[in-house]
Amino acid sequence: MKIEKKDILDIESLSTEEIELILDTADSLKEISTRPIKKVPTLRGKTIVHFFHESSTRTRTSFEIAAKRLSADTVSISASTSSIVKGETLADTVRNLEAMNPDAIIIRHSAAGAPHMLARLVRSSVINAGDGMHAHPTQALLDMMTVREKKGRLHGLRVAIIGDIAHSRVARSNTVGFLKMGAHVILAGPPTMIPQRIEVLGAPVTYYVEEAIKNADVIIMLRIQKERQQPFLFPSEREYASYYGLTTENLAAARDDVLIMHPGPINRGVEIAPEVADGPYSVILDQVANGVAIRMALLYLLLGGPR
Ligand code: CP
Repeated sequence: MKIEKKDILDIESLSTEEIELILDTADSLKEISTRPIKKVPTLRGKTIVHFFHESSTRTRTSFEIAAKRLSADTVSISASTSSIVKGETLADTVRNLEAMNPDAIIIRHSAAGAPHMLARLVRSSVINAGDGMHAHPTQALLDMMTVREKKGRLHGLRVAIIGDIAHSRVARSNTVGFLKMGAHVILAGPPTMIPQRIEVLGAPVTYYVEEAIKNADVIIMLRIQKERQQPFLFPSEREYASYYGLTTENLAAARDDVLIMHPGPINRGVEIAPEVADGPYSVILDQVANGVAIRMALLYLLLGGPR
């Protein structure tokens, strides 16, 4: 089975059937990571370039582990160690990488749309590992996998996404993804961190965290992206935590079987209290584990077998 696409650039361009195929494939590949020898020969002879133009711990590591578990050869480069620091353009860099005939290029970039532009330049498959404030499709897929694994379904669930919505590619991709799969999504955060007209995606907005938490089946907390906020959009971390942070106190209004999620990295004590992040409702590390399975599934579905 394959996805009849060259690239994975955003959730918008995936159909519900394709999302289900990716989640089902990830479910079946997840078991490989529990074996004593965590490797299958599926992508032997394939070459995958990981090109991260922005920092990453989870996405980069899990893409590399996913490729290696499928026996692909991997090369990893970052902007700071590439000839981009000497003035080479991104397009020229990628054309040069393409000349070495890789099968896929995984790219993270601070500019929204960079993976889309590169996908038009190269024959290799391009997977968007996060572009600016625009999209993070593999994060949304691993989040949907985690919720489906824990709840048995996505359809009809109430998903609250809380925090710095304005700067979050995770919020955008998850809103589109969960809505596409039949869940209800509510967005919450301070007015300064909610983009105007975000409701057009189909998710209502509230400025009151308690309203979003109440009756939620899933709560996805977002990091405040201070590196993208100029000037800062809140007076102090302490005030942010008291009005918009998830704590054991405001979590009391949530359902008994709520799932607490966070894409990471976490600002402990700011958007989420440490005892909530590490508490019984948290599935944050399950998200990380499922990140490997989702990325294995995508590589398998794009590169496995003849195109
Ligand atoms: N969730 C996520 O994208 O984390 P990293 O920035 O560490 O890859």
